[in-house]
Amino acid sequence: MLDNSNDTRLFYQVEFLHDCLDDYLDQVLALLGQEWPKFNRKTRLESLKKSNNNFPINLILVNEHKQCVAHCRMSRVDSELEGVLVESVIVDKNYRGKGYGKAIMMEAEHIAIEKRMSSIYLSTFKREFYKKLGYRECHAVTSLSSNADILSKTQLRALLGVFGGHHQINNSDRVWMSKRLG
Ligand SMILES: CC(C)(COP(=O)(O)OP(=O)(O)OC[C@H]1O[C@@H](n2cnc3c(N)ncnc32)[C@H](O)[C@@H]1OP(=O)(O)O)[C@@H](O)C(=O)NCCC(=O)NCCS
Repeated sequence: MLDNSNDTRLFYQVEFLHDCLDDYLDQVLALLGQEWPKFNRKTRLESLKKSNNNFPINLILVNEHKQCVAHCRMSRVDSELEGVLVESVIVDKNYRGKGYGKAIMMEAEHIAIEKRMSSIYLSTFKREFYKKLGYRECHAVTSLSSNADILSKTQLRALLGVFGGHHQINNSDRVWMSKRLG
């Protein structure tokens, strides 16, 4: 999918990863590795390859130099037919503070609305960033791709020991946030 930026300060194309896997898979792996380097590569690869039009969707922003500068993953929420969980939001370290984080969230919202979804949920340590975008604290939700959140810390620690996961165990600063769309 090619699209023009909604933000006049920035140039970017919005792509579904599954439409351009051959071109951007390596770049997305490298981008996610910047922030979550310990996550198992094979598991990550399998997850990225599941991207499809009906969720999960891995969304990327590509700049004029064909560099992938931002990524997020959108999945269906288990308990809410019209709920979307957004995870793995990341902007390339070299491109932060320029509006790409806001841009990818706005594009994710736009896509969710197009797919007739009514709410976006996320779990984050970056409360202030999302607050600026209109997100408010809410209850936790789960998605098929985020079952770690229904486990106790002990269970989670055990699983992470096996899979080498990237979630933080000490999640006292982590909050759930959501936004109604439309
Ligand atoms: C968080 C992240 C996605 C923000 O992306 P970014 O491109 O730097 O953010 P933007 O430039 O679009 O910022 C949009 C607005 O949010 C603000 N903002 C950005 N990061 C912020 C933060 N950590 N705390 C508070 N405000 C923040 C900006 O100042 C800007 O405000 P403005 O609209 O008033 O000018 C990026 O820093 C990142 O990839 N971090 C590492 C991965 C991560 O933590 N992801 C979130 C996990 S859920």
